[in-house]
Order: sequence, then C-alpha cells, then structure tokens
Amino acid sequence: MSKRKVKDDHMPVGECITQVQEVFRERFCCQKLPEQPEGVESQHKHLLELLKRTAVHGESNSVLIVGPRGAGKTMLLKCVLRDLLEEKEVEKNLLQVHLNGLLQTDDRIALKEITRQLNLENVVGDKVFGSFAETLGFLLEALKKGDRSSSRPVLFVLDEFDLFAHHKNQTLLYNLFDVSQSAQAPIAVVGVTCRLDVLELLEKRVKSRFSHRQIHLLSSLTFPQYAERVRTQLSLPDDFPDDKFAQDWNASVKNLCEDKSVEEVLQRHFNSSKDYRMMHMLLMLCLSRVSVAKPNIKPADVLEASKMCFTDAKANMLHGLSILELCLVIAMKHLNDVYEGEPFNLQMVHNEFKKFLHRKSSSMYNFEQPVIMKAFEHLQQLELIRPVDSSSAKTQREYQLMRLMLDHSQIMEALQKYPQCPTDVKQWAMSAFG
Ligand SMILES: Nc1ncnc2c1ncn2[C@@H]1O[C@H](COP(=O)(O)OP(=O)(O)OP(=O)(O)O)[C@@H](O)[C@H]1O
Ligand SMILES: [Mg+2]
Repeated sequence: MSKRKVKDDHMPVGECITQVQEVFRERFCCQKLPEQPEGVESQHKHLLELLKRTAVHGESNSVLIVGPRGAGKTMLLKCVLRDLLEEKEVEKNLLQVHLNGLLQTDDRIALKEITRQLNLENVVGDKVFGSFAETLGFLLEALKKGDRSSSRPVLFVLDEFDLFAHHKNQTLLYNLFDVSQSAQAPIAVVGVTCRLDVLELLEKRVKSRFSHRQIHLLSSLTFPQYAERVRTQLSLPDDFPDDKFAQDWNASVKNLCEDKSVEEVLQRHFNSSKDYRMMHMLLMLCLSRVSVAKPNIKPADVLEASKMCFTDAKANMLHGLSILELCLVIAMKHLNDVYEGEPFNLQMVHNEFKKFLHRKSSSMYNFEQPVIMKAFEHLQQLELIRPVDSSSAKTQREYQLMRLMLDHSQIMEALQKYPQCPTDVKQWAMSAFG
C-alpha cells in the first residue's frame, strides 16, 4: 500500500483501516525497530559508544546487557547495531557473530557456528586443532587484512548468555573474554541475559577476564507513565495518510485511556508486568476487533482482550481432557479437601472415584483399571499432576505419591466452561466432600 498523503481529501474508511492495521502490525509485531527506543536513551548511548570503540578504534571490550524477559534487550541491541552500521567504514569492516545459548548448546557446536558465520569453513577445511583456544586463534588470524597489520573487528553477541556458563569448563566464555583482554584481535563480546546473578555463574578465571561492564534494563515505570505509554503506542503517527482520520483516532484513544474501566484493566496489567511485550499483546488483541463497521477501539474491547491475556493456560488445558480424566481431577480435588493438600496415589483417587460411581446406577462410567492408569499417565504428561518425589520411581505406579498442580478456582472455572460436562459430574465437583 502506498503511503500517499491526502491532505484535505479523505480516504475511504476501508483503506484507512488497512493503513491502521499496517502501522500497528509494524509497531507491535517486531517488524520495525523504533526510531528512538523510549526510556532507554542512556543505555543506548552507553552501548553505542562501547561498540564504536571496537568497530572504529579497534579496542576490545566486553559487556553484559541484563534485564527481565521482554524488557527490550534484543531491541536495544538491534537499534544500537543499526545506528552503528550507519557509518560506512563500520559497515565495511565489522564482522558479526550471533550465538544463542538455546541453539548452541555446547562449545563444539558454538565453534562450528562461529566458523560458519565468519565464512571460514573453507579456510579451516580438514585441519585438526589441539584446543579450543588454538581454533579460535586460527579463526581470528584468518580474519587479518591482506597486509597482516590489522584485524577486522568482530562482534560476538551471546544471547541467553547464562546458558553458556553451563558448558564444560566454560571454554568458549573463557577464550572469548581472554581474547577481549589481550591485544590479539579487536573483538567485542556482548552477553544478553535475564539473570541478574549471572556473574555468580562464572568461574573465577572467566570472571576475572570479564570487564564487569553491565547495562541494566530495569523498569521503574509508574502507573501514569505506563498509561501514557499505552496511549502513545496506540496513537497514529503524524505521517498517517488521512489527517482527519488520524486526529479522530487519536482523540478516541485519548478518551479510551481515560475511561474508568479501561484504567482498571491497565492497572491490573501494570501490576503483573510493565514490559512492552505484554502491552503489545494486549493492544494487538484490542486492534483485532477494529473493523470498517467499528473503526475505533471501545472500552469493551480492552476488557475482552485483557480477559484473553489472563486466561489461565492450565484451566484451558482442562477443556481438552476426557470425561474420565476430568473425573479423576475432581476426585483429586476432593482428596485434597479431605486430607488438606496431602499427596495421594492413584489407588486413593480410584477409590474416591468409585464412591461417586456407587451412588449412581448407570454403567456409563465403568472403566477398567488399565484405562484409568492410562488417564492418570496422561494427566502426569500434561503436568497437571506431579510425583512428590521423582526418585521413588521404583515404587509401584499405583502407589506413587502425587500432587495436584491445580487449585480449586481453576478446576471450577474450567468445569463451568467444559463443553457438555454431565450435570452429575458438575454436581459431584461442587459437593463439599466427595
Ligand atoms: N523501548 C521500547 N519501545 C518500543 N518497543 C519496545 C521497547 N522495548 C521493548 N519493546 C518491544 O517489546 C518486545 C520485547 O522486546 P525484546 O524482544 O527486545 O525483549 P528481550 O529483553 O530481548 O526479551 P527476552 O529476554 O525474552 O529475549 C519487542 O516487541 C520490542 O519491540
Ligand atoms: Mg531477547
């Protein structure tokens, strides 16, 4: 869709809505980096300067970006890299290696990936190296410029940095930090992690080679700031093609954010998480309810969207259970009531279930022991029940002690919504003691 600007002329509503969807899809689905990441200006400046020192001046460096999930660590790094690469010289020279602790699960795999990303597979060929340090040294040597006087700077990004600390002897970390401390080659090591205690995971010899530079992304947002952020995130930009539509939209968003019920919902979200990721999820759900017939967001949309955000994943799982599995969950709920949360075993659950069946004449719920066993196993697979002590796996299955990982309200809520749940089962669930 072309972004033509129609000053006095109006676009048809349908076209406006398409544009609205495009603007917000880019903003909320990580398709476009923000021009200036909000609220992290000082961190941005710090990281940019640090990486410039490597990319432009050939100094080595190491730094950790630390912050909770969804705080914007990856986004910050991407913005900084984008701004760094604006300089022609840097773009020509800087090499990048991106590793992720979830993908490169040991140092051998990591080394292979480094070789691949540096396009040195052919250079390495079938060479056999004695140690990790030797290989890394060879790779960095191979990157030297034609005249051998200087090396190209390399940026190593280690996402999920804490996972690399679990690798045997922390070899990769040791060697990268070691190079970053010596004049061997200009490299910058950037670790990204959500563990605040990450330094404690490092071995002494690794830790002593790290620069101890850390960039923290910890939010100290207040609620009014959060609400304002929601408003700006939902507002259309000045360059929106239809001025009148954008003005109306922004005015209606302002009203929306001042609505009492919306404020309550936002307060609840603010209390559970202040980050952009959760906020974007909420706003995306709100936007999905905008259409040509209803070209703005209403308080009810925010309420509905919020409900969807907060639906309990476990309660949702209950909807997929069979009636037998559901009955077992109810039996466990009763056992929990009677024995005040003490663990139980399958035999006890089965007995409880039988008590319910005895009171009924119908044979609809007659199940063989192996079927019950299977259902029990399925519940365990779903992690709705968990063995108290996994080391006691030798005990006979029926007698292994288990705990129910659901609470009352989750069970009752799920039962209300369970499609075609037999009334007697519902009543049984609601009765006080089995
Ligand atoms: N300052 C900001 N301005 C606009 N959007 C932001 C900002 N910070 C974060 N976001 C958005 O929030 C989402 C999560 O950010 P990001 O992926 O960078 O988090 P993260 O800290 O890397 O999380 P994780 O630890 O899970 O990797 C992204 O969609 C990002 O665009
Ligand atoms: Mg990330």
